[in-house]
Amino acid sequence: MATQNFDVCVIGAGPGGYVAAIRAAQLGKKTVIIEREYLGGVCLNVGCIPSKAMISAAHFLHRVQHDAPEMGIEIKSDVKVNMKKLVSWKQSVCDQMSGGVSQLLKGNQVTIIRGEAEFKTAQELVVKSKEGATSIVAKNFIIATGSRPIEIPGFKIDEKEVLSSTGALALDELPKTAVVIGGGYIGLEIGSYLSKLGTEVTVLEAGATLLNGVAERDCVQVVERKLKKGGVKIVFGAKAKSYKKTGSDYEVEYDLAGKLEKVKCAKLLLTVGRRPNSDQANLKGIGLQIDEKGFVKVNAQRRTSIAHIFAIGDVAGQPMLAHKASYEGVLVAEVIGGMNRAYDAKTVPAVVFTDPEIASAGMLESECRAKGYNDLKIGKFPFAANGRAVSLKETDGFVKIIADAKTNIVLGVHMVGPEVSNLISEAALAIEMGARVEDLALTIHPHPTLGEVVMEAAEATLGHAIHIIQKPLSRAEGSSVRATH
Ligand code: FAD
Ligand code: NAI
Repeated sequence: MATQNFDVCVIGAGPGGYVAAIRAAQLGKKTVIIEREYLGGVCLNVGCIPSKAMISAAHFLHRVQHDAPEMGIEIKSDVKVNMKKLVSWKQSVCDQMSGGVSQLLKGNQVTIIRGEAEFKTAQELVVKSKEGATSIVAKNFIIATGSRPIEIPGFKIDEKEVLSSTGALALDELPKTAVVIGGGYIGLEIGSYLSKLGTEVTVLEAGATLLNGVAERDCVQVVERKLKKGGVKIVFGAKAKSYKKTGSDYEVEYDLAGKLEKVKCAKLLLTVGRRPNSDQANLKGIGLQIDEKGFVKVNAQRRTSIAHIFAIGDVAGQPMLAHKASYEGVLVAEVIGGMNRAYDAKTVPAVVFTDPEIASAGMLESECRAKGYNDLKIGKFPFAANGRAVSLKETDGFVKIIADAKTNIVLGVHMVGPEVSNLISEAALAIEMGARVEDLALTIHPHPTLGEVVMEAAEATLGHAIHIIQKPLSRAEGSSVRATH
């Protein structure tokens, strides 16, 4: 077996791994990246990008069907969905993105090896592919092997009867009915677009709320209301137990407060979370420490218990988000490159691409209180009072700012509404820079834009938003008073 030597060996070409490889190469390191499936990882091929492509198409359809007539746009014939064409367009988006990663890696002189990597020792790994086996020796390794869906008893994902997000994103026939087990990120994003395309969706959620611990309760309520209005059924406290085939359909049995209930569907999706791939590639065999949740243990430089091996992205801890993986990729490459770096981000912003979108940066109100911030200023500004939102006919939602009442420093920003995925970065920057609410309120935001809602939410937090009527108390006492919710 031939042996190749490198400075840096990256395992996994997702948004963690490919970014780490490019940055390491930029820093002059002889770098190899090993990928067993697709360049771009879960995110570009079966995660972030395809799901957003499907969401965009479904939102477009919904706008044409529901908003266009009121705007004076008359559609004379039926608007139809060609699922085969839609899925093939979605695939072309993924292929374009994955091809871009390939070009970037090659353009940066990163060696790409296709195959399954497994550590032999802490200094050497073997890559197996159809063509044979290669041995790689490197000074540093970066484990970026990602995660996979969790299964529950009674539901084995086979992408035929029980679908994960991967199978759901590839459906080239629209099911009449679907049951989604798990009302988290994936269940709601996929459930929403299936519903908009015309599927009758039932969400079985074991907990008492959707997106528990991910978003502010009042943000989630806006989405929940709209889902229900669009015909999505949500059953809380429902623990899926088993399913059986009944003709061409499935019957799912679930426990609801100790009673067994049943629901029928044509397609069954299991979206109850993802687990790190730390049980693969012989990570345990070479002695890497893994924590009780299955994440590879890392320090602030993302160094594992073996000093020359690093771990990043989904395999190295929450939150399992692409931009966190990429941040860690750059960080680790720079540590290996001799730069003085450590993980010091104050916030990892998060977006749920429902309708409307939910976005957040910084702490939830409950987290602020748990950290001892008991005196908070909280201000909210609704999209319904924003000219751009009204002209877009997308007025559901608001921006909410939570600040420390003693210093006015921004602790958390939570948004639900149109394009909040594109508005949250301003909030993340504010939190990273330790900005005060006044910094957001006194920054001139162009008109008419959705961004003005962030500025007005800051003004509302200070008690003097212009385009909503705040309580007289706030007016009398000016900016020193706490705004009302
Ligand atoms: P991955 O992207 O999982 O990449 C790991 C790669 O390693 C894979 O390509 C795998 O094939 C390869 N690999 C694993 N083991 C080996 C081995 N032994 N040898 C060789 N190769 C190996 N996040 C967001 O921030 N925004 C979103 O909108 C979003 N949407 C999502 C939608 C869905 C449906 C899903 C499932 C996830 C979504 N995520 C989203 C999460 C996001 O995809 C992950 O956080 C991100 O992909 C993690 O990146 P990573 O580099 O750690 O791992
Ligand atoms: P999740 O953790 O977001 O949600 C899982 C949900 O399933 C929870 O609400 C949980 O209470 C529920 N659940 C668990 N067991 C259950 C059972 N037996 N029956 C019914 N409900 C049950 O997990 P999900 O949606 O699979 O997503 C995995 C991860 O992928 C996310 O945590 C996120 O990190 C990432 N992701 C990010 C996206 C984004 O950034 N927009 C989009 C999609 C995924």
